[in-house]
Amino acid sequence: MSDANAAERQLPKHIAIIMDGNGRWAKKRFLPRIAGHKVGVETVRKIIRYCAKLDIQVLSLFAFSSENWRRPGSEVSFLMELFFLSLEREVKELHSHQIQIRFIGNRDRFSERLRNKITEVESLTRNNQGMVLIIAADYGGQWDICESVKRLALQVKNNEINPADINPTHIARGLSFADLPDPDLFIRTSGELRISNFMLWQLAYTELYFTDTHWPDFNEKELDKALNHYAQRERRFGLSSEQLGETICSNNALSQH
Ligand code: IPE
Ligand code: IPE
Ligand code: MG
Repeated sequence: MSDANAAERQLPKHIAIIMDGNGRWAKKRFLPRIAGHKVGVETVRKIIRYCAKLDIQVLSLFAFSSENWRRPGSEVSFLMELFFLSLEREVKELHSHQIQIRFIGNRDRFSERLRNKITEVESLTRNNQGMVLIIAADYGGQWDICESVKRLALQVKNNEINPADINPTHIARGLSFADLPDPDLFIRTSGELRISNFMLWQLAYTELYFTDTHWPDFNEKELDKALNHYAQRERRFGLSSEQLGETICSNNALSQH
């Protein structure tokens, strides 16, 4: 796609990706699973750069789920080391591009070394004004909602809020990235048609896109395909198509006055 076309299409503010299929990519090549994870990191680099170039506001990447601890110990250790080394290797360049890096998920189960690295990366990039990169690690959508509910329960206990007054906004406010827009576009690679406990609450009205491409093979062209699909979707948020037409007309009418 030419830059002119890219500029014209309706781009999502927030893209959330389940980077799946590293193991299957490796298996197809008679390689160990970890080889797929290594190549997967290269795809991460490519996609971050491309999203920043397109001026995407927020990019969220699911790096490790709450359930991934159940994998063989050797794979988990490899992933933790790869996570640490990738942060160490990439952060300088990301920082120089004004990218703000945030981590969502439960940090308690990480090693102290990794926890320190995460804190260091977050504080280094905290004031950056470019794209926000959210890395979901030891993250689960159910965990996220539970954490928010725990905070609310405490407010109820302290008589700061009446249980009868609790509404969805209260829960949304306590989630991991409440200050940022919810994902507009969700992408999952490698063919599985499921959410796997990713941002359960925040995906309520997200456009979903699935591709059979394994994550190590995913690239700028594949992302463009997803963006083109997104640009063709009509986001109705519960309204009828006709109502949307009216809203657009009245907005146009308003903007002419
Ligand atoms: C995604 O690839 C990476 C992580 C979950 C960390 P997988 O490792 O899930 O690859 P498949 O699904 O087994 O092919
Ligand atoms: C989801 O992928 C988690 C990440 C990509 C980090 P999984 O490969 O763990 O999901 P399932 O087990 O196939 O649902
Ligand atoms: Mg998988």
